[in-house]
Amino acid sequence: MKQFLSVEDVPGVPRMVDIALDYKANPFKDKGLGTNKTLGMIFLNPSLRTRLSTQVAARNLGMEVVVFNIDKEGWALEMNDGVVMNGSTTEHVKEAAAVMGQYFDMLAIRTFPGLKDKEEDYTEKYINQFIKYAGKPVVSLESATRHPLQSLTDAVTIRETWKEKRKPKVVLTWAPHVKSLPQAVPNSFAEWMNAWDEVDFAITHPEGYELDPTFAGNAPVFYNQEEALKDADYVYVKNWSSYKDYGKIINSDPAWMMSNQQLAITNNAKVMHCLPVRRNVVIADEVLDGPNSIVIQEAGNRVWAAQAVLSELLRNQ
Ligand code: CP
Repeated sequence: MKQFLSVEDVPGVPRMVDIALDYKANPFKDKGLGTNKTLGMIFLNPSLRTRLSTQVAARNLGMEVVVFNIDKEGWALEMNDGVVMNGSTTEHVKEAAAVMGQYFDMLAIRTFPGLKDKEEDYTEKYINQFIKYAGKPVVSLESATRHPLQSLTDAVTIRETWKEKRKPKVVLTWAPHVKSLPQAVPNSFAEWMNAWDEVDFAITHPEGYELDPTFAGNAPVFYNQEEALKDADYVYVKNWSSYKDYGKIINSDPAWMMSNQQLAITNNAKVMHCLPVRRNVVIADEVLDGPNSIVIQEAGNRVWAAQAVLSELLRNQ
């Protein structure tokens, strides 16, 4: 593995899930793998889970970690090539990324979309500028259109909680939110579930919230949430803003919130969410605090997913 930006970069979803679960059983078995290697974690946006779990994972492998909140502590970055830098930006990504490439053996970057310019976001302009100029392997800590560490975690969590012989039915459902959110988590979740033959996958959302077909693939899409949730074994709850009417909130119907009413339709489904979650907007207290929620176990698994990814990259260096 040379980089970790999407499911395309991994040697198969089942293999990555196996590696992650091996680390969960024995976190320090490769303590020497990262000796004398340093991971630079660059944040252009906030994070709790990704930031902390990736640091723990790197340390379990013996790596040094440096965290840099470049949005708050660095110079204002210019991301566009060929501009006259006489405005608010102070340092071009050409120099900033190249310099960080001198200090670190691997870079991990979080960069959210602006949700204003679909083309800029969906060409992954920001993370690609870092990749272009850093000269070191790059791990996505969530980019404009994907959150692959979260999706690997989600596959790990489904595998470890599923005890039956048949494939589980996994349903990604849109839920309301007060803010305009990226499509990165649902895009990535769909991409990983579509690439993984251990699950049957479906998507439900109100009309107008269709994901980019590149990610939705051939997954069945339901505009009727009740119909989609029938017999679901896992419900993955997430809000996203419209891809079609780019970045806009076009529906905020509270009937789409995950509550016990929705849960009753399912096959006693386990409820997942990447977190952070707005209680009683996206998921009701009764669900988050009830026996079907596995969101904390899911967040815990972020460590093992990150460790699997970092270990594969280290083995390739
Ligand atoms: N799920 C997730 O990526 O959480 P953070 O944004 O807190 O890192």
